[in-house]
Amino acid sequence: MNDTVIGHIGGSAGKEVRLKGWVYNFRSSGKIAFLILRDGTGFIQCVLVKGEIGEEYFELAKTLQQEDTIEVAGKVAENPRSPGGYEIAMTSLRIINQFRGEEYPIQKKDHGVDFLLNNRHLWLRSKMQFATLRIRDEIVKAIRDFFYEREFILIDSPIFTPTAPEGTSSLFATDYFGENAFLSQSGQLYQEAGAIAFRKTYCFGPTFRAEKSKTKKHLTEFWMIEPEVAFADLDDMMTLSEDFVCYVVGRVLEKKKEELKILERDTSDLENIKAPFERITYKQAVELVNKGGLPMKFGEDFGADEEDIVSRNFKKPVFIHRFPRSIKPFYMEADPEDGDLVLNMDLIAPAGYGEIIGGSQRMYDLDRLKEEMKKAGLSEKDYHWYVDLRKWGSCPHAGFGLGLERTVAWITGIEHIRTAIPFPRTINRLNP
Ligand code: 4AD
Repeated sequence: MNDTVIGHIGGSAGKEVRLKGWVYNFRSSGKIAFLILRDGTGFIQCVLVKGEIGEEYFELAKTLQQEDTIEVAGKVAENPRSPGGYEIAMTSLRIINQFRGEEYPIQKKDHGVDFLLNNRHLWLRSKMQFATLRIRDEIVKAIRDFFYEREFILIDSPIFTPTAPEGTSSLFATDYFGENAFLSQSGQLYQEAGAIAFRKTYCFGPTFRAEKSKTKKHLTEFWMIEPEVAFADLDDMMTLSEDFVCYVVGRVLEKKKEELKILERDTSDLENIKAPFERITYKQAVELVNKGGLPMKFGEDFGADEEDIVSRNFKKPVFIHRFPRSIKPFYMEADPEDGDLVLNMDLIAPAGYGEIIGGSQRMYDLDRLKEEMKKAGLSEKDYHWYVDLRKWGSCPHAGFGLGLERTVAWITGIEHIRTAIPFPRTINRLNP
């Protein structure tokens, strides 16, 4: 008898196995019963035939309810209709835990999403969440592999920061022993120090934005991956971004077929995600929005509706580059051909998932940087170390940030970003 887990059952047809897990579903009719067992690695159907397993185990099984903790033993058989393609012909059952004080809150019926989010600690056990979060795990692994294979060095940026790289309107302030410390909005500024020390670096951690947006694309705590490269320009970053996105999508298609099937994700559009992606200017994107029927003036930023219109013109993600300086942060390099524009880019995912990457070439000239900081009302004292980077060893450099949850939402095809993360934080949610 082999102690194993559902995820390792493949190829074991004919073998006797023992599994520990939880009851996902149980139904019996007369002399036969079907149990769906979940064990955290997968789901499998277990079949109990009264005449084979014996009266005692069969009666014990009839006491089972959702989320009882059990151990089952039996013989593995192939069954294409069972989840994962296998089932277990059960020979024994042992109950490890049965709680009967209250009914399991999440029943097989439609619950409102608020109820499910209030019970997120339990909801994580359901099939759709299982599939989504396992794909997230694969994406995280692919992200790390991509940068490791390209010889980037991981330089973790701090979470407590004294600065606000993405503007002061979306900061969470904390009392840091009597001083103001903000939860990081972006690790970028520290990556700029990293890139001059290690040439190619990245950070990957949680970032925080006190944005009061109640959209399906906004979290107040989300994970961002931020590479930064010395001697690189905006075009290099667009090329790196498209290689990166293709790599991540390719990995999910290769390794997470079962999970994509659970989510009923039609993957034909993902199969089509190959470099290069179209690159259009901000000006061209504004024209597309206007043509799409939404009035938008030069100098305004894209909201969700505007991004949707742009993305509908393309089957793959699309880059929008060279935005007006007036709507972008101080650190972006000026476009040498038009000083009112900056050398930045956003990558917009297809099908309304919005911006998944934002990046730019950084301003590296000391005097011009100081001037931009002054215009933005930033104190040189607060940014003294960032200014130092423009004194010693300054060089052209560029980087970008990819939002993990928006990427997970797009690849899995889930409707809302809040289930792309285990425990979402949004404007109205801090619990569980
Ligand atoms: O475009 P953003 O603001 O860029 C930066 O923070 C740069 N400092 C990154 C860099 O150059 N190193 O954010 C980058 C990405 C967005 O494209 C989006 O995917 C994600 O972060 N993002 C959010 N995701 C979820 N909820 C939010 N509130 C988000 N805000 C940004």
